[in-house]
Amino acid sequence: MATVCFEGRSVTVADGEKILACCEEMGVPFGCQDGLCGTCIVTVPKGSDNLAPRNDKEVDMDLDEGQRLACQCVIVSGEVHIVAA
Ligand code: FES
Repeated sequence: MATVCFEGRSVTVADGEKILACCEEMGVPFGCQDGLCGTCIVTVPKGSDNLAPRNDKEVDMDLDEGQRLACQCVIVSGEVHIVAA
């Protein structure tokens, strides 16, 4: 199992899952949920190595270092801390 932490809350998800649903549950704002709008950009100060590499939509978004699209990223295992970008 893996854990995603945001603003003092944490949610457990299965290894290899997208973090979209648990982030939505914790109050991360979403728009398109398809990697196009950038509404869900978050910064990952801790545990970024536990996320799968950026997918094509994240690469196309031209994110800053340490940023991810919460609607696109997949947690491999372990714990990941995210904050609003
Ligand atoms: S919700 Fe639009 S890019 Fe993630």
